Amino acid sequence: MKERVEFVAKRGMRFEIWARQKPGKSNAAAADETFAFRVGDRVVYRIAALPPYFQFYTYTHHVDGPLTLEWDDSTIEIPLFYSFDPDNVAEKGVTFLELRDDRVIARPKASWPEWYECDPNRPQLRFSPFQAWMNDPNGLCFIDGRYHLFYQFHPVEAEWGPMHWGHAVSDDLYHWTHLPVFLHPEENLWSLGATGGAFSGSAFVGPDGKLSFFYTERLPAYDLYKDYKEVQKKVVPSAGLLRPEASQLVLVDGPPGSAHDFRDPKVWYDQARGIYRMVLGAAIDGDPAVLLYGSEDGAGWQFLSVLYRAPEHFRRHGARCVECPDFFELDGRFVLVMGFVGYTEPATGRHNLLYAQVGTFDDDRFMPSASTLQELDFGTDFYAMQSFRARDRQIALAWLFNWEFRKPAGSPYSGELSLPRVLGLDAQLRLTMVPDEGYRLLRARELTRTSPYHFICEPTRPVELSLSGKLDGICIVGRGSEGESFTLVHDSGRLALAIAEDAGDIKYHSVPLSLEQLTLFFDRGVIEVFANGGVVCGTRRTYKITALTSVEVTLSDKIRIDTSEAWSYESAWM
Ligand code: FRU
Repeated sequence: MKERVEFVAKRGMRFEIWARQKPGKSNAAAADETFAFRVGDRVVYRIAALPPYFQFYTYTHHVDGPLTLEWDDSTIEIPLFYSFDPDNVAEKGVTFLELRDDRVIARPKASWPEWYECDPNRPQLRFSPFQAWMNDPNGLCFIDGRYHLFYQFHPVEAEWGPMHWGHAVSDDLYHWTHLPVFLHPEENLWSLGATGGAFSGSAFVGPDGKLSFFYTERLPAYDLYKDYKEVQKKVVPSAGLLRPEASQLVLVDGPPGSAHDFRDPKVWYDQARGIYRMVLGAAIDGDPAVLLYGSEDGAGWQFLSVLYRAPEHFRRHGARCVECPDFFELDGRFVLVMGFVGYTEPATGRHNLLYAQVGTFDDDRFMPSASTLQELDFGTDFYAMQSFRARDRQIALAWLFNWEFRKPAGSPYSGELSLPRVLGLDAQLRLTMVPDEGYRLLRARELTRTSPYHFICEPTRPVELSLSGKLDGICIVGRGSEGESFTLVHDSGRLALAIAEDAGDIKYHSVPLSLEQLTLFFDRGVIEVFANGGVVCGTRRTYKITALTSVEVTLSDKIRIDTSEAWSYESAWM
């Protein structure tokens, strides 16, 4: 059946559409009815035949005046469709469009608060995509006074698949505006029955002040674990960062000993030496490794050395390679951050841990100040961290996911980001992470107490609890409206965070610490814990508590609380 809807459209307005033929439908008589834009009686855009795989289409309106959309709801499937005006998209964002039965439901920016509020699982202080799948943060940068976030995005469903770069912009790292998809895979991977595409990468501002992005393209891949090819590319964005303007292949083959894992470039310019450097995640003879590349001009790259190679222990326990290496200068030192995908820690059963090492970096040699790796997040739902420099601070975001637990089926999206974290070093040269202070502006009111340390929450609102004192042995229980709970305890010298999903076989606990300060955020199932100034952090994602009703702190004789505060938060999407 053919449906018809009129848009008020202005010249230059763009529509971006991902569509395919509905499974089980024939394309036969579809030619002029499947999907068409008309100006008056004139067809200005028509999809003549829909393929059975997803295909990206884009239409730019070229006259001022109304536009009619016609479509055949029985033959076309459109998982993602939006419009935008390039002249104001940076402020207004895209308008998501949903074709449902005979209607177009338009979701402009003004309607996003309701969209984010009504999903009981949707964090309110953190970024998540409007719909579909996201993983790693990519291309983080601060340009012309605004923060840009790109992210691994699979636009057609809430599952991982052919990778694109989604894009959003913010003035403060908390309030986000969705922009058009920035990068697409080089090939239509759906049509090839393959995965791969525009994998993770980072932003780079050159000595000339110009912005570009280095990223990995996984070429069409038919196996998730082997025999794929990953190459490094550079793109220069158009003005306004809306789309790539120029793209260039910069690196095709890894060094001897490396194999199919060769990805996630982070590039910087060494001002003093006038040279370019890049780190990449890989494996060398099966050991997870970080590779160092060099360039005189940012275009031609040479392999320099293996910057880091993981001890044999990691390979033995499943680690396949390093993912998303980050390498940056902080307070006169260099910090290396890396994720070991596939690794299972024998002592705790935790997977895919994220680690840091702090050291010096002179003449291209990284000398760690400690031989051991610092575990960056004992909860493990904090992965693929990427940091960038803005306003004299090193800021990081990470993907709140570990493949251990999945979002309940039927959700329109999957994947969220952590709170923005500001990085620092403590006196022992350990990396510290604390939330960017912008969260304070979102505080709504202090929580009511029924006893000194029993707080009543406003169920669907984010909550913060901050304590300081002599906290060894403390136990904090958060309870949900369905009776589910999570528990944060300091036990046998370690912090441990348990959620309702736990079967008990994996132990989510920290390294030993004497607990003096603790901040806990709960946000619709996301729990982020910062201890002792952020030298120990733990992040977990539960889907069992969406509404938190109370938080209770249990004290023993030895515990002394000096300060305590507990807050309820506004949504950042409001
Ligand atoms: C990490 C990662 C990266 C890769 C991307 C693909 O989560 O596997 O190594 O570039 O995700 O989506």
